[in-house]
Amino acid sequence: MKKVTKAVIPAAGLGTRVLPASKAMPKEMLPIVDKPAIQYIVEEAAAAGIEDILIITNRGKGIIEDHFDRTPILEEALMKSGKRDFYDSVMESSELANIYFLRQKETKGLGHAIYCAKSFVGDDPFVVLYGDDVIMSDDPVAGQLIRAYNEYGKICLGIKSVDENAIHKYSSLKVDLIRDNLFSVTDMIEKPDTPDKVMSLYSILGRCLLTSDIFPILENLPAGAGGEIQLTDAIKVLAQRDGAIGVDFYGKRYDMGSKLGIMQAAVETALKHSEIGNDFREYLVELAKNL
Ligand code: UTP
Repeated sequence: MKKVTKAVIPAAGLGTRVLPASKAMPKEMLPIVDKPAIQYIVEEAAAAGIEDILIITNRGKGIIEDHFDRTPILEEALMKSGKRDFYDSVMESSELANIYFLRQKETKGLGHAIYCAKSFVGDDPFVVLYGDDVIMSDDPVAGQLIRAYNEYGKICLGIKSVDENAIHKYSSLKVDLIRDNLFSVTDMIEKPDTPDKVMSLYSILGRCLLTSDIFPILENLPAGAGGEIQLTDAIKVLAQRDGAIGVDFYGKRYDMGSKLGIMQAAVETALKHSEIGNDFREYLVELAKNL
């Protein structure tokens, strides 16, 4: 079995749900306390042993490239003024992994964004980390998927149960429990529009580990739900043909493509933050008295 060392982060969506914040600022760059959302995602991949990361961007998202680049003038100024902690934090983002960028020239959907990664991926297995899904976990979710892939040799999907009233906004999977948090996934539907189409409340959320078998399927895939080329429709073909493993992952997911998700990520991360955690907790407790 090939070692998993590559990851793709699709970050070329329009971010409609968080406009106007995402009009000029990519939603992936919105800060969670002191780091942009996408840095948490790159850190997760690096912590799982990923060495090469392709970030799919589009025009207007150039500051993502700047963020992961070196900044010699700033670095020198911080060194000269003895601000070592800031220097280290600035250096950190440029040293996490080998990061490559590619533009998705038309916003045709997540499936099309992944198809853009074909040359980068070659014949290797790769992890997909959705650019607007930050998942906090002591055990990086990308690593949880890699372990499942190493055990079963099939594509692996990060899954979670979603609310019955919300399943029409997500994918719905046909699942059978294997053991613990691992499931066999044999079918799925993207955005079921009537209750009879719902296969279960389990949905693919934020992470999956795919093989290059996905590309011939994506190449000929017609547009699906919402008129977009849906990654789920391609994964469905692989799951029906070869089977897939669902990993009900350990971790707290924040949807940085939604206003509520952005606020939940900020509040919960601030409470745990080494510098401001205690002060922020006091502030929140005081504030909550008048809610
Ligand atoms: P989403 O559907 O959550 O992102 O796609 P979006 O399209 O930006 O959302 P709204 O509806 O406009 O608010 C999941 C991931 O796929 C990326 C997004 O950036 C996000 O990380 N994506 C989506 C692409 O890279 N390209 C696309 O054409 C669509």
